[in-house]
Amino acid sequence: MEKIKIIGGDPLRGTIKVSGAKNSAVALIPATILADSPVTIEGLPDISDVRILGDLIEEIGGTFHFDGKKAVIDPTNMVPMPMPNGKVKKLRASYYLMGAMLGRFKKAVVGLPGGCHLGPRPIDQHIKGFEALGAKVTNEQGAIYLRAEELRGARIFLDVVSVGATINIMLAAVRAKGRTIIENAAKEPEIIDVATLLSNMGANIKGAGTDVIRIDGVEKLSGCRHSIIPDRIEAGTYMIAAAAMGKEVVIDNVIPQHVESLTAKLREMGVHVETSDDQILVSSVPDLKAVDVKTLVYPGFPTDLQQPFTSLLTKAHGTSVVTDTIYSARFKHIDELRRMNASIKVEGCSAIVTGPVQLQGAKVKASDLRAGAALVIAGLMAEGLTEIAGVEHIDRGYSNLVDKLAGIGATIWREKMTDEEIEQVKNA
Ligand code: EPU
Repeated sequence: MEKIKIIGGDPLRGTIKVSGAKNSAVALIPATILADSPVTIEGLPDISDVRILGDLIEEIGGTFHFDGKKAVIDPTNMVPMPMPNGKVKKLRASYYLMGAMLGRFKKAVVGLPGGCHLGPRPIDQHIKGFEALGAKVTNEQGAIYLRAEELRGARIFLDVVSVGATINIMLAAVRAKGRTIIENAAKEPEIIDVATLLSNMGANIKGAGTDVIRIDGVEKLSGCRHSIIPDRIEAGTYMIAAAAMGKEVVIDNVIPQHVESLTAKLREMGVHVETSDDQILVSSVPDLKAVDVKTLVYPGFPTDLQQPFTSLLTKAHGTSVVTDTIYSARFKHIDELRRMNASIKVEGCSAIVTGPVQLQGAKVKASDLRAGAALVIAGLMAEGLTEIAGVEHIDRGYSNLVDKLAGIGATIWREKMTDEEIEQVKNA
């Protein structure tokens, strides 16, 4: 086990390159199960979630060759191996194995997914979609069993706008008989990316990126080459770091439209943000203004940036209110920020931040992926040394975070934890 150490206060300057989108990657890899020949995905992020999914692909008889950027996946010899336990429990996105295996084999057994603890994360809308397509779905001892004689297109209205349910239903429907219509679909860029891969494989999908997606089932999907979109949450995380400590930081490999809600908020705070085709320049200013933020489905402000943004708000003049309407309990980072001298209280699904304060370095623990990103940003802003445990959460979603930040001037490094520290973290 390792920890991240940061000595805060250094100005950030230079160019930081964004990797491929985690939340696309974790759906694109399962999507390859639906093909009958090898698929190449370029620009994948080198994160543990990708490697675990690669292992799962191999568990069901596929091959997964990954060089840290490009993966070649051969689904030819895959079998509908039941996966009630084991690695499926390590990441949330293993739920995409349900849709993909159901689509290809008409059956699947997948343990209920793990991932970040952000309060209740039901998958009822995924299951409602699978059932509408003709699958029988049961939950037996924590694993979901899916079976269908055949999958038939259906009209499905999602009660909750869900990224996962939208993608999972697409995966199950592309090889179903007839037309599927998903209404009240999520519109995140990652959904368009998955639809693009499926279309390149031969699927017939219209409307991805809008709230009505139409899918006409096809009999067969084949291998292809696909380049993943840049990670808008990683880009946003570095934009926030630059807004806190940046003296001209260029975020490279970003689609500016994907981070518009963040750009608008940063400008409202007084931060200098300039966008071009695939780069964004961010520079901090001495007196940041407090702002209120409410997370919403895309194109609203993403819940995944709420935690890192809260760290930045500790530096702003006045009171800011951050409300998470997607995950009402996504506030585990707040206690850790308080240890670092932040003045924040949580009321219901809102965090109320009073600033400005000078954060102080401390020993803190990341409870989930984006809480980890929030603590890294806080560490960059803090006076003195910050030590972050729970680095395995950060490694799930940020490719080479330490090297990337060191490359723009941060004093940040990784160290092995001592046995005593590991024990302390476990008992905390
Ligand atoms: N929801 C339901 N029923 C469902 C599905 C979702 O009630 O069947 C609710 C959830 O509880 C939540 C809301 O709908 O309140 C939105 O959930 P959604 O399904 O969109 O989230 P997800 O697909 O489980 C993905 C990302 C998350 C990101 C959310 C929101 C992946 C693997 N995960 O989760 O990413 O926060 O969308 O944008 O794509 C992260 O990257 O740190 C992360 C947690």
